[in-house]
Amino acid sequence: MNVESSNAQGAIYYIFGATGDLAKRKLFPALFSLYKEGKLSENFAVVGLARRERTNEQFRADLYESIVEFCRYKADDVELWNRFAEHFEYMPLDINNVEAFRGLATLSDQLDAKFNIPGNRLFYLALAPSLFGPVSFSLRDGGLLESKGWHRVVIEKPFGYDLESAQKLNDQITQVFKEEEIYRIDHYLGKEMVQNIQVIRFANAFFEPLWNNNHIANVQITLSETVGVEERGGYYDKSGALRDMGQNHMLQMLTMIAMEPPSRLHGEDIRDEKVKVLRSLRPYKSSDEVRNLVVRGQYSEGSLNGKELPGYRQEDSVGENSTTETYFAAKLAVDNFRWAGVPFYIRTGKRLPVKTTEVVIEFKSMPQNVLFAQRHDLQPNLLVIRVNPMEGIYIKVNAKTPGEDNSVQPVNMEFCQSCQIGINTPEAYERLIHDAVRGDSTYFTRWDEVAQAWEFVDRIAAAWREDSADLQHYPAGSWGPEKAEKLLAQDGFKWWPVNGQEEDNVIWVSNSGK
Ligand code: BG6
Repeated sequence: MNVESSNAQGAIYYIFGATGDLAKRKLFPALFSLYKEGKLSENFAVVGLARRERTNEQFRADLYESIVEFCRYKADDVELWNRFAEHFEYMPLDINNVEAFRGLATLSDQLDAKFNIPGNRLFYLALAPSLFGPVSFSLRDGGLLESKGWHRVVIEKPFGYDLESAQKLNDQITQVFKEEEIYRIDHYLGKEMVQNIQVIRFANAFFEPLWNNNHIANVQITLSETVGVEERGGYYDKSGALRDMGQNHMLQMLTMIAMEPPSRLHGEDIRDEKVKVLRSLRPYKSSDEVRNLVVRGQYSEGSLNGKELPGYRQEDSVGENSTTETYFAAKLAVDNFRWAGVPFYIRTGKRLPVKTTEVVIEFKSMPQNVLFAQRHDLQPNLLVIRVNPMEGIYIKVNAKTPGEDNSVQPVNMEFCQSCQIGINTPEAYERLIHDAVRGDSTYFTRWDEVAQAWEFVDRIAAAWREDSADLQHYPAGSWGPEKAEKLLAQDGFKWWPVNGQEEDNVIWVSNSGK
């Protein structure tokens, strides 16, 4: 596949679900940032589509509000704003009405002519998964795929509810689009530091040689959130943390850490390596194994930063006896030569004390019979990749305590990327929309990855269906069920503090001025 070097050709972007939350918070702000940075050129149009009646003026007014509230750039240059907004049209649409799609095709031809666009089409489906199939069919039957340029579809998660439903979805979509025209979004893959994992691994002489079971004791991936389910109770109560975060973001990050070096830095080669990791994940063999190796939690009442918070079951649109998990932690094994014997611990949850995403690589300790290790309780070396909201990396090393005879002290040496360049790095959605329009699907998930991830997750979900008794409750604002501590303790490990909340005796050397 050819990746276009720029977007000079131009395209029409169709946002299905244009009056929804994702469009408002992420997609419109991303388009504005791309425009501000000259990455959209002037040959583009955006058509907002939803059921609701709206005029172009109302749509553009909503667009403005969304940019003011959520975009990292200000919309204070009136001339630039007007030029940008002129590219936006709104059309109310019933997705089963093929006639209406024909109308959309006619509008598209007009927009091609007006903005000098060569027939390229990017369909962004910010919709419930049950609509992916019907929209694809209507696009085809309404003649939207007959223009002379390329046609690509971007699909939001969740991609199905389990392997079976995902397979059905995929069967429908692939009746209309080829795999290389399908861009399945996992916005974590658009994050700066997730993409940086490859550079850290493959561009540093002192990491890659150690990146295996001879030197790494364990890997920990934490995705903690302070938010509850907010107004998404209806969706979340059916999904839960395992499907909402585990099947996608967490397993995707794990593949980036665990994959073999690809033969080339090309999308297909990278995705080939990632899917091999997913295939190597050791499946849980029984419900007992799931009970021992996967912790399932749900928040109850508690407090966070001095604020009293309701329990999950008291949230809007959540069943009062719901057994949906808002937290899970798991121990995974990657059964291949590189990783045999190295546990991967992952955890995610809502209403935890901090919002943070971090990957900790814990290296094996020095042998106890030599030199300093004999006399001191040496801490292991760590490499910590800080993904979100702070971006950067730090390594933990042991050094002599200044002024003290042969005394050893841990030192964290940090490159805080977000401190250095501010928080103004491109948002994940900017990067991904730009990639899709350039035809670069590296950071989108391929069908075999999605299927493999569901297969793994389905076993956990099946065991939980059989046994709701193991649901652990944790107070909102805590670090989750105690059982998650035991998961590591039984292997002689502990969760390392995240978000820079290190133990007292650590010296920080950081460009953040810590
Ligand atoms: C989404 C989940 O995919 O990711 C949400 O559906 C979650 O439940 C969100 O809050 C977290 O993303 P980020 O980028 O804020 O860490």
